[in-house]
Amino acid sequence: MAIAQAQPNIALVKYWGKRHGGMNLPAVGSLSVTLESLWTQTEIEFDPDLPEDLFLLNGLPDPVGLSRVSRCLDPIRERASCTHKARIRSRNNFPTSAGLASSASGFAALVTAAIAALNLDVSDEEKNQWARWASGSAPRSLYGGFVELRLHDTPAPGHTELVPLATPADWPLEVAVAITSLSTKSVGSTAGMSQTANTSPFYESWIRAQPLDLEEARTAVQARDFEKLARVSEHSCLKMHGLALAGKPGLIYWNGATVNCLAVIRDLRAQGIPVFFTVDAGPQVKAVSEPGAIQQVAGILRQIPGVLEVMTSRLGPGARVLSGAGKPHPSDP
Ligand code: DP6
Repeated sequence: MAIAQAQPNIALVKYWGKRHGGMNLPAVGSLSVTLESLWTQTEIEFDPDLPEDLFLLNGLPDPVGLSRVSRCLDPIRERASCTHKARIRSRNNFPTSAGLASSASGFAALVTAAIAALNLDVSDEEKNQWARWASGSAPRSLYGGFVELRLHDTPAPGHTELVPLATPADWPLEVAVAITSLSTKSVGSTAGMSQTANTSPFYESWIRAQPLDLEEARTAVQARDFEKLARVSEHSCLKMHGLALAGKPGLIYWNGATVNCLAVIRDLRAQGIPVFFTVDAGPQVKAVSEPGAIQQVAGILRQIPGVLEVMTSRLGPGARVLSGAGKPHPSDP
């Protein structure tokens, strides 16, 4: 058995859309930051006596999640020549399936725990691929700080590479997450992406422009240029939602409080507070600030009607094993 922890990542240049041909290949590269204080912890135990995989999420059986979990584990089991089913217990310290990247941290933690429990010696490439098959944003949570998922045409079209660009210590930005709804989102990312790709008139230009956005964000990170990162991140966020809104039917992931948060964050930046927004496939707003400004931003977001809770986080490390495969549990003496 093994226990692993991973944190959600927040995309600054968004992944939205998949290539044809299966294998969950993203149609575009993406760039994200990994958080520190929101986490998923996953314990996995392979058991020869178990007839089926068992999956508990936050203490409750999760039949919908179970099939994705089993599909994620199958290639790892195959690689280890292991036929045993597994008992998986996963815990999030933040709301699940509400646009807070719980699938990213969830699958990054699961892959990391399974590799440790099966004592597998694998390349980063294999690990990244197992996480990506489960969820396109999950391999980014295997790494800490600023992470780029790059697409290449060799050795095969759509080959993905994960590139850590800067550590949290290199550029210690901070994030506030404003929760504006606790409901599970009505259209998940996978279905939303396919609806957008099939019906949005803006989809082709989205794919074409992504390398430019990535280049701009990458150079902003390398130069620690906050204003530049703010501009390209807000642009990528609004563009992704614009193209989803223009599909048939249009996808509306936001609520009134979401929009109010965006307006307030723009006002704060105009007043000289170094902060920008991003929103994923849900109504929660993430505010990213330079070091030292996040508590002030969080306090202001808390005053906005419809904001239920604001969590803050620094940038954090990638997925890691907490115990198992020879590692003691952190609480052991
Ligand atoms: C809006 O990684 O959840 O958060 O590959 O279908 O599991 P699947 O999608 P997922 O999509 C994330 C979409 C996003 C943007 C991003 O994280 O880049």
